[in-house]
Order: sequence, then structure tokens, then C-alpha cells
Amino acid sequence: MPPLIQIKNLYFSYGEHLVLEDINLEIKAGDFLAILGPNGSGKSTLLKLILGLLQPDQGEIYLFGKPLPKFDKWWLLGYVPQRATARVDPVFPVTVEEVVGFGLLARKRFPRFLNSQDRQAIRKALSLVEMESFHRRRLCELSGGQQQRVFIARAIVSEPQVLLLDEPTTGVDVATQEKFYDLLGEFNQKGLTIVIVTHDIGIVNKHVKQVACLNRRLVYHGTHEEFCSSPRLKEFVGEHHLVIHRH
Ligand SMILES: Nc1ncnc2c1ncn2[C@@H]1O[C@H](COP(=O)(O)OP(=O)(O)O)[C@@H](O)[C@H]1O
Ligand SMILES: [Mg+2]
Repeated sequence: MPPLIQIKNLYFSYGEHLVLEDINLEIKAGDFLAILGPNGSGKSTLLKLILGLLQPDQGEIYLFGKPLPKFDKWWLLGYVPQRATARVDPVFPVTVEEVVGFGLLARKRFPRFLNSQDRQAIRKALSLVEMESFHRRRLCELSGGQQQRVFIARAIVSEPQVLLLDEPTTGVDVATQEKFYDLLGEFNQKGLTIVIVTHDIGIVNKHVKQVACLNRRLVYHGTHEEFCSSPRLKEFVGEHHLVIHRH
């Protein structure tokens, strides 16, 4: 089986600003990969390139063995963007069910009404994140941690094989973060491949299988055990925490 995601000699710049340089990375079925790196090191940009939201300057990305420009099964990838909860409009009356329903639209043709099968899928996704009883509530009435689980439900409602999460627990308390990561661990055990950009390496530790360190270049990609036994890499995370604390 080909890797689910394969990145070859990837370069990307915003205008003159080189953000990613010669990235080579393979993500295989069953991986639980944490992407670490200082602010501005290109982590979010890398996820957007994988999702086809940005075009590489050079290099190739393959998804499920297909070159990205020819790939069209986008429901196989679930995405939780950075700062999703911060972008929740405090007065817009969208319900939990509607938000999760957006995750089904990639699969639908016009007119994009939700049918009873869709509603069932929405209920199932909400029950997986233990938010089923909130389906008629307005998103803006929920806590940050609850909203975050709704965004996970939106990302998994199409039954993807890979879940990409960009700093999903920012602004959520530590106890909620732990629960959240345990949930990701359970999904991973059931076969979902997980790629997570995170600063909480201490908390996510027990579930992560692979680590990638990014700083414009891919500084490291390997197993979590090897990462933990390397002082040089620990230093990388140390520096990176210093960077975070300045913000
Ligand atoms: N839309 C954009 N236009 C121009 N520069 C951008 C844009 N988005 C991000 N950047 C810059 O690209 C670099 C990498 O950003 P990003 O991928 O968001 O980093 P990270 O997620 O690791 O913090 C940063 O220097 C950032 O300021
Ligand atoms: Mg980012």
C-alpha cells in the first residue's frame, strides 16, 4: 500500500519569503504524527499544501498514491484548522448539527440538502466526541472545549482515513486537553491516521508514535522514542517553547 501522504522535494514561498525548503515526508496508514516547530516555521502552511489549499513552488505531493492535482476524494482527509474556536461568531445562530453537516458537503452535489442518511452520519460523529445531546444547541453557547469537539465531529463526519489537526487545543484547559488527546488516541487505535500540529508535546506524549520537527526545513522525522532519547531534539523543543512563551 502506498503511503497515505507523500511529500517530495517540496518548496513553498509567500512571495519572496521562503517558508518551506526541500521537505520530504511520508505519512503511513496508522501513524500518529506530531509536527513540532517554532511559530512561523511553516507548520500550518505544510498542512494547507497537503490539503491543496496552496500550490507548491516545486516538488510533489501524493495523496493515497495519486498526485495531488489528480486527487479528488477529499472526504478521505479531515481537517481541523488553527484557531477554529476563536473564529466562532458569538452571535451567528448556527447550530451544532449544521456545523457538523458542513463536513459532508465535499461529497455532495447541488442541491446540497442534508438527507436522513446525512443526519444519521452527523449524529454518529457527534456521539463519537460525546456531543450528541448538544446537536440542536447553538455553537456560540458552548465552551471552548465543547466547540473543539464539534470541529472534530465536522472533520470526521465524512469518515476520513486521515485527520489533520492544526493546534487544536489552543485556549483549552489542561484537563480538557488530556481528554481530547485520549479521544485522538482511541481514534488512532481504531485505525484513523492522525497528523497533529501541537505545542503540547508533554500532554500528547502518550499517544504520539512519530515526531516531525519543522523549521523551514524538516529538521527531524522519526519515532517518538528516538525523539525523546535525543538531547539535540529536546533542545529543539526547548527553544521552541521559549518562542511560544514570548507570544
Ligand atoms: N497568507 C500569508 N501570506 C504571507 N505570509 C504568510 C502567510 N501565512 C503565513 N505566512 C508567513 O509564513 C511563515 C510560516 O507561517 P505558518 O505556516 O503559519 O507557520 P506556523 O504554523 O509554523 O506558525 C510565517 O513567517 C508567516 O508569517
Ligand atoms: Mg500555525
